[in-house]
Amino acid sequence: MTEAPSPTNPAPKVVGNKPGSNVLDDALARVRALDPALAVTLAREVDAIREGRKFGLVFEKHLPESVRLPEHPVKRGVKVVRRDSVHGGQEQTWRVLKVVSAGIERLAYLADVEEPVPVADLVVVRDFGEPVYPGLKPIHRIERGQPNVPCHVVINGENYHALQALKMTHRKAIDLIYIDPPYNTGNQSWIYSDRYIADQDVFKHSKWLSFMERRLTFARDLLKDTGIILVAIGDEEHHRLRMLMDQVFGPQNFIANIVWQGSGKNDARYTAGGVDYMLAYARDESTLAENEVRWRVVKPGIDLALETAKKAWEESGHDPSEATKIYRAALRPLRNVLGPAVFRYDQIDDQGRVFQAGDLSSPSPRENLRYDLHHPKTGKPVRMPANGWRLDPDAMEERLKDNRILFGPDETTTPRIKRLLVDQAVQVPYATFTTPRMPGSKRLEAILGDKRFPFPKDHEVLMRWFSAIAPSDAVILDFFGGSGSTTEAVARLNAEDGGTRQSILVTNNEVGAKDSKALRAAGCSPGDPEWEARGVCRYVTQPRITTVVTGTRPDGSIYSNGLSATVEFFDLTYLDPDRVSRARDFEAIAPLLWMQAGAIGRCISKEPSEGWALSDRYAVLVDVDASESFVAAMSALQKPPPLVFVVTDSPSDFEDVTGRLPRGIRTYRLYESYLRNFEINVEAAQ
Ligand SMILES: C[S@@+](CC[C@H](N)C(=O)[O-])C[C@H]1O[C@@H](n2cnc3c(N)ncnc32)[C@H](O)[C@@H]1O
Repeated sequence: MTEAPSPTNPAPKVVGNKPGSNVLDDALARVRALDPALAVTLAREVDAIREGRKFGLVFEKHLPESVRLPEHPVKRGVKVVRRDSVHGGQEQTWRVLKVVSAGIERLAYLADVEEPVPVADLVVVRDFGEPVYPGLKPIHRIERGQPNVPCHVVINGENYHALQALKMTHRKAIDLIYIDPPYNTGNQSWIYSDRYIADQDVFKHSKWLSFMERRLTFARDLLKDTGIILVAIGDEEHHRLRMLMDQVFGPQNFIANIVWQGSGKNDARYTAGGVDYMLAYARDESTLAENEVRWRVVKPGIDLALETAKKAWEESGHDPSEATKIYRAALRPLRNVLGPAVFRYDQIDDQGRVFQAGDLSSPSPRENLRYDLHHPKTGKPVRMPANGWRLDPDAMEERLKDNRILFGPDETTTPRIKRLLVDQAVQVPYATFTTPRMPGSKRLEAILGDKRFPFPKDHEVLMRWFSAIAPSDAVILDFFGGSGSTTEAVARLNAEDGGTRQSILVTNNEVGAKDSKALRAAGCSPGDPEWEARGVCRYVTQPRITTVVTGTRPDGSIYSNGLSATVEFFDLTYLDPDRVSRARDFEAIAPLLWMQAGAIGRCISKEPSEGWALSDRYAVLVDVDASESFVAAMSALQKPPPLVFVVTDSPSDFEDVTGRLPRGIRTYRLYESYLRNFEINVEAAQ
């Protein structure tokens, strides 16, 4: 029984029930006036419901995704799909009961299938959630960069697993993640569990959200505390993605919803469309604020304006008013290219500097800003603005010496200040910008000779945002790499400003819908060389990046002068723990260790027979019995490598070795069974 509230028996505290804050609370308040006891009971029930209710994104979780392991042997106990199956995923998998030889053929007996199936028609699959052992197999290297600058890395593989491997090598190590995931347009643009997700799929949004949530959760752990993630998205999933990002990164870390207006359609019924977004979130916005981080971009057109001014200055014979006249005439047709922030600077002074006249008055009155400023000709104090001057006396003196104060004909005119264009070269980026999207596609076509990839992002737009957001030595990760626009943007940015940014690009080798239909019709299946040769990584990413960096197209024709950069291409492989030898294990994980050490210089690619090996950047001790000579070698170096991997199962051996190393070296323990270090996928995919 519930007692009515009274002054001596107040109503129980009801969580979140602020009278009048919404319709339900209003209704409860009215009930309270009529029947206080009933109101208390109702309020309790309402609060119970409210407490249990989850505000935010609620969606059906889809499990599992799966991955094909074409190199793994079909044997008893493994899960398989038909090599030519379009769908894959859970419903099409079978357990292998046994494998028998029948002449030259090998046949597999599958659970719930009467007839045996040729092993050649099957491929092993693992669901997400079952352990796999990733390795990196070097495929191709372009070496044109400085030896002490990080290599760009391109990994062909499933990003879910690549992210987990990176969690071991790059935890809190990434400055910027930029991704451009499938937009879920229902337009054969996105494959989930080996199947294109169609518009009619009733679970299309929840499947996409499940897919993204798993990857974003891993990605968050890779970001430095000052890190940023930028996710490109279209109208289809923009609102759901923002809620998901709030959930994964926290609403307090939301930075911006960047709107990219491309060319729209003039004949559209309602609005021109052509809008793309980038959602920017910080790993921890408070750390950015503490570090006084500010995003700035170079004002568009500034180089062009300065060049034009230089020509006008020379043409005028160093006459400021003539130079200004010539410059203004040259500026007029450039108005749209330059943008207002540069166009406003339309005067040239007697030193050939481009400037705009600015206000010298202080925005607020302060006593130290009120002082006499004398006119250079009349010697009398000039008219002071009501609030005083913008500059204190010392700063004013400096500007006077630099001829930056613009006096009027006499003391009756308040002087102004010259704002120099070179001092105002950067601006805060606008969250909305207009740039046609076509150039990205056109440039890619010019590299590859034909249209192989739909809607690549414009690397120039990426360059602008990357330079605003990330430092010049940033590590930038893109795990939906597609055609490789991110790698091109990072390499070009370095070439422009001498930065040492590193890009890590992950993309799968997905075959486009049209090509895959044609390949199937020709009897090819995923894993076949003909099929793989048409995948995005092999057919688009690799030739594009190779052409941009070397300057030579795959057909030998010249594209450009190339760029100074080194790029290492890998395939993500899945090792079979029953099959590999210790030496091969080491080879497979060696590139991961090299990446962890910064991907600079030589990779220690073979298990060293003498028990240890050193490079400039890292060292590996694989046999603790050789620790004496290892420690001696490290101690003899003036600049020992800053990172050491010690292979031992024994924590005390590890302590012993690391205690004898020179100070200031980061140490990392690896299990003797190398694969165990990189056993991934076991975290239950949510
Ligand atoms: C929208 S595109 C990215 C385009 C890219 N920004 C560019 O400018 O070329 C998405 C890419 O992610 C790749 N992808 C999709 N799912 C993936 C997955 N699970 N693992 C790795 N790559 C994936 C697709 O092959 C596709 O090329």
